[in-house]
Amino acid sequence: MYIMSTKQPMSTASHEPVIDARELHKSFGNVEAVKSLSFSVEAGEVLGLLGPNGAGKTTTIKMLTTLTQIDGGQAAIGGFDVSTQPDVVRQMIGVAGQSAAVDEKLTARENLNLFGRLYKIPRAERQRRTEELIERFDLGDFADRPSSTYSGGERRRLDVVAALVANPPALFLDEPTTGLDPRSRAELWDTVRSLATEGTAIVLSTQYLEEADRLADKILLIDHGEVVAQGTPDALKANLDRNVLEIHLELESGVGDAQELLASEENAVADVEARRIDIHVGNDADRSLALLRRLQDGGISILKFQLREPTLDDVFLSLTGSPSTEIEESTK
Ligand SMILES: Nc1ncnc2c1ncn2[C@@H]1O[C@H](COP(=O)(O)OP(=O)(O)OP(=O)(O)O)[C@@H](O)[C@H]1O
Ligand SMILES: [Mg+2]
Repeated sequence: MYIMSTKQPMSTASHEPVIDARELHKSFGNVEAVKSLSFSVEAGEVLGLLGPNGAGKTTTIKMLTTLTQIDGGQAAIGGFDVSTQPDVVRQMIGVAGQSAAVDEKLTARENLNLFGRLYKIPRAERQRRTEELIERFDLGDFADRPSSTYSGGERRRLDVVAALVANPPALFLDEPTTGLDPRSRAELWDTVRSLATEGTAIVLSTQYLEEADRLADKILLIDHGEVVAQGTPDALKANLDRNVLEIHLELESGVGDAQELLASEENAVADVEARRIDIHVGNDADRSLALLRRLQDGGISILKFQLREPTLDDVFLSLTGSPSTEIEESTK
């Protein structure tokens, strides 16, 4: 998708990416946190950086936003090299990181003003922009209280809004909705979509498949600093068995018996302590019913069951073909 943008930086021709990462690499001692990661994001596009804990999401975002040095490869924002022109790059980006950048002692209004100063926005415009953001993102209720008194969600919201002060052409959001309640999460999703529609190029990291699915135009699925899969959300999901049948058993001792009854099912994962069995069943309702009936006929007492959408874990399991897609020996 490409949307003409008023924010297109001067130095780029219209079809050049706003964010361009080529073979990025970063090591911490002997931990290779990011290995040869390449991607680009155009104006109006949202790239979802999806991956579990330790995948390299924050490290990637920190490299692109000048917060950590790039060990190998190259990155450019609006055509400016991140390593050699960090000062120019800083004026073109907004960042909402995993740890809050706002000053605890200051109010939301003061914090937004301070960010405007960091971006060297003239005073009058800074104040206008601060009021506009408070209004647009509904920060009014707590705009004049010190940030130290905010709830986790309120602080998260201020953090994201602070990244928007300079109306930057490139925006980096590192797990922006972690810890938000469903309503705040939905509001933030709306915000991200509307910023993209206005032409901002956005990199958003998340551990939630649903979030990437809702927001991203394309997804980079990473693990151990490497790309495991990439493409549009639909293309990624097309690779998956859509649904997981989650069966909760009454007794811990029933899990072993259930495993025997399901021995022919390649996709069953058992968790004895949780008294639970997960099976990838695709979209085949008959198959789910048959599996449940098999357990019931075998004398297994089922507490409850549900058919759910795959989680990020399921995506990984099915893409990497990890051994945990089978019933595990160790769960006896
Ligand atoms: N300053 C550091 N020193 C040493 N190791 C680090 C440092 N920063 C990150 N790492 C390591 O690099 C890897 C990637 O970390 P990173 O923070 O990028 O992951 P992440 O995908 O953001 O994870 P999370 O979802 O938990 O935030 C991890 O193994 C982490 O321990
Ligand atoms: Mg992180």
